[in-house]
Amino acid sequence: MRVFLGVTGASGALYAGHALRALTVAGCDVGLCVSGAGAHVISHEILEAGTGPPDDPALAVEAFVERFATGPGTVTRLGLNDLTAPFASGSSLAPAALIAPCSGSTMAAIAHGTARNLIHRCADVMLKERRTLVLMPRETPLNLIHIENWAAVTRAGAIVMPAMPGFYGLPRRMEDLVDFMVAKALDHLGVPNDLITRWGEDAPVRPGTAA
Ligand SMILES: Cc1cc2nc3c(=O)[nH]c(=O)nc-3n(C[C@H](O)[C@H](O)[C@H](O)COP(=O)(O)O)c2cc1C
Repeated sequence: MRVFLGVTGASGALYAGHALRALTVAGCDVGLCVSGAGAHVISHEILEAGTGPPDDPALAVEAFVERFATGPGTVTRLGLNDLTAPFASGSSLAPAALIAPCSGSTMAAIAHGTARNLIHRCADVMLKERRTLVLMPRETPLNLIHIENWAAVTRAGAIVMPAMPGFYGLPRRMEDLVDFMVAKALDHLGVPNDLITRWGEDAPVRPGTAA
């Protein structure tokens, strides 16, 4: 399955990392497009914690792919301004796209159909072709402009999935919260995953309480 993964400059780059990992583990062919602000947030939130942030956004994207694309699927790096990429056309057969995290800026561009870069254009194509578009904004609190943009993309057919992980699975680590969101996104994209224990299946047991 071909999937477009857009990464923009909202906080929460780890959502994109875990999504890339789960998509490649599921054997997807991922078209990856990272905005300039997205690369900056990847450097700040993920890479700085390791070896230090690469100055070059392209190096940040390479380090990100190196760390998270661990499965048998493939990753094609797509330039933000490459409007000749297949994902820019409705004739390409990509059934699903995820933008995670999705900044308020990119959400606004999608809501208003400006399509000035590949992430905006791919989202526009998914909406016009009535395909699956999942947007994962992270912002709080929301102003009325945010809310109206979320409503506009929802009316156009997108699934707005704010980064609001649930706690009923009794998460122990930050990664559990991230995977809660990524599992929900992949479920909507139609990509199999076993990232979480689903409600009604094995009940979560806190460490130290097992019989
Ligand atoms: C460290 C950092 C964190 C940010 N966090 C958010 C955020 O959580 N949500 C948001 O909408 N914008 C956030 N921004 C602002 C966006 O990066 C900014 O609006 C940018 O223009 C988005 O461009 P893009 O959509 O092309 O990635 C953040 C910026 C930085 C530098």
